[in-house]
Amino acid sequence: MEPKPNSRIIVALDCDNRAAADDIVGRLGGDCRFYKVGLELLTAAGPGVVEDLVAQGKEVFLDLKLFEIPHSVAGAVRAAGALGVSMVTVHAMGGVGIMSAAVEAAREFPGLRVLALTVVTSMTDADLAAIGVGGATQEQVLRLARLAGEAGCHGVVGSPQEASALREVLGAEALIVTPGVALAGTSAGEHARAGTPGAAVAAGASHVVVGRGVTRAADPAAAFRRVRADLGE
Ligand code: C5P
Repeated sequence: MEPKPNSRIIVALDCDNRAAADDIVGRLGGDCRFYKVGLELLTAAGPGVVEDLVAQGKEVFLDLKLFEIPHSVAGAVRAAGALGVSMVTVHAMGGVGIMSAAVEAAREFPGLRVLALTVVTSMTDADLAAIGVGGATQEQVLRLARLAGEAGCHGVVGSPQEASALREVLGAEALIVTPGVALAGTSAGEHARAGTPGAAVAAGASHVVVGRGVTRAADPAAAFRRVRADLGE
């Protein structure tokens, strides 16, 4: 499924208050139709921020990063579906049982896609070794992606460097959402495995998540247009 061109860019509203989020959404206007709401904004502002985005015709990726017993995961996914969001995340490290519970719960919401988080983009091989996971990051990412596919997840979240390998493992229909992208010449922040938005899409990503590169820019609308240009739009 090919998303509409400006739906491939998801702007992360990593704000600690509602007014700041509304300000970004207002500045980007009709250009941006997909936002990611994470735990910070959800906790600070409440679910009304999500409902209002949906009411404005925006798509919302609710980045809940669920890692719980299957019953609780299913409940959280249903609550997300009831808000009208398009994407919700579950940790693949939780295994097939947790991911399957999320997929099952999402079935009653036809527009809701369950994405599995593989390895957060800030983690390196050394970080994985420290938590007792042997092997290279890429190996772990692909192992988790295969489990996500088995569980029926609609796609995964992964770094730009892994997009092409993920596409190969998951096939043409899967959603591959890549945070950790930065335009050339800008800081990649703490993303250990960053790449440009254009490179991520060329490698197989269906969507890119951009946060501070847009939201902290002096002119967020201009920064968003630069991301679009990087995607050849
Ligand atoms: O760095 P940036 O502000 O562009 O981050 C945007 C989003 O990317 C964040 O909301 C976060 O969830 C995600 N991210 C990630 N792994 C990181 C850092 C950020 O998945 N190491």
